Amino acid sequence: MKTLQVALGNRSYPIYIGSGLLGCAEIYTQHIQSKQVIVISNETIAPLYLDKVLNNLQAFSVKTVILPDGEQFKTLEYLSQIFDTLLISKFSRNATLIALGGGVIGDMGGFAAACYQRGIAFLQIPTTLLAQVDSSVGGKTGVNHPLGKNMIGAFYQPRCVIADSDVLDTLDNRQLAAGLAEVIKYGLIRDAAFFAWLEQNIDALLARDKTALAYAIEQSCINKAEIVAIDETETGLRATLNLGHTFGHAIETGAGYGTYLHGEAVAIGTCLAADLSRRKGWLNEADVSRITSLFRKCNLPIHPPEQIDSDRFVELMSVDKKNVDGQIRLILLTKIGEATLPIDVDRHLLEQTLKSYGKE
Ligand code: NAD
Ligand code: GLY
Repeated sequence: MKTLQVALGNRSYPIYIGSGLLGCAEIYTQHIQSKQVIVISNETIAPLYLDKVLNNLQAFSVKTVILPDGEQFKTLEYLSQIFDTLLISKFSRNATLIALGGGVIGDMGGFAAACYQRGIAFLQIPTTLLAQVDSSVGGKTGVNHPLGKNMIGAFYQPRCVIADSDVLDTLDNRQLAAGLAEVIKYGLIRDAAFFAWLEQNIDALLARDKTALAYAIEQSCINKAEIVAIDETETGLRATLNLGHTFGHAIETGAGYGTYLHGEAVAIGTCLAADLSRRKGWLNEADVSRITSLFRKCNLPIHPPEQIDSDRFVELMSVDKKNVDGQIRLILLTKIGEATLPIDVDRHLLEQTLKSYGKE
């Protein structure tokens, strides 16, 4: 097992990465602070892994909430089910919430923990590659609103992250690829050597080679933990993690939540950001081609859906947490391995990208 730290003073916490961690009771129990434990999962993950988790918690009084599976259920309405169970069970402020699932369950569980009695302890057990390399680390929690993705939420850090690589065995190839989109992001924004390693090792990752996957998870978590330790609440550097996300969120919202996987939308968004970075004169054709080729090798989409025209894109992109005074701001690439902070977008260049990318 590897243990990394997210260094946040007295709110610092470990990320445990390794095989067989789900069955290691002592890893969980050292982070649980009272008898009352609530486990949040969904209808797909619970039959696979809930019993394994509950086996470690026999000394505790445990409640479970099993939500329907899907991004379209990441809403205030379904969040209420967690509060209902906590209140009906008379859980107090020293209760602990465990989120067992992908990014949807992690974001919802974390937000419920942040809100219930103004904050209870929570543990992240991420079960998708995307959640292990990104969403479980760093304390961004929340739900979607019909008008905007992740627009209701809070920064709230977990007590630990338990990333058991064995759970990825049951993940389908499409979900694995979606997770790789966020892995590639770290290479693009701050780690050119990691990007080159990904180019060399993408076939091994797609073939689920355990050593390659373990390295990719660890490098991603190292990068994420460093960024979060420097800028927990996204006043600057952390925004670089949103490379491609403004376009991506517009695609997710515009196409209907659940149509594109988050990682798929991010892959398309990153290609659009790369195209815009080329129009800015920062990337050259060869850089853009390296980026699109790597996503293509992962079988990730690289072109936006035709149903979202450029006007609709701009409308959707105007609902984004990075925007200031209604001005769209984006993360772009100055080179492979280096990103800008959010910059005001040149509307003319943005429209060129939205109208011409993939058609020239
Ligand atoms: P997800 O949570 O919807 O999980 C993807 C699918 O895989 C679901 O159907 C799920 O039931 C299934 N699944 C999960 N683990 C499985 C396993 N081990 N075996 C088989 N099936 C499994 O999606 P995701 O890609 O994990 O996360 C996307 C969400 O994360 C989005 O809502 C996004 O906004 C959010 N996100 C948050 C952050 C953050 O910093 N908080 C970062 C990135 C993404
Ligand atoms: N996934 C973006 C962030 O954690 O900031």
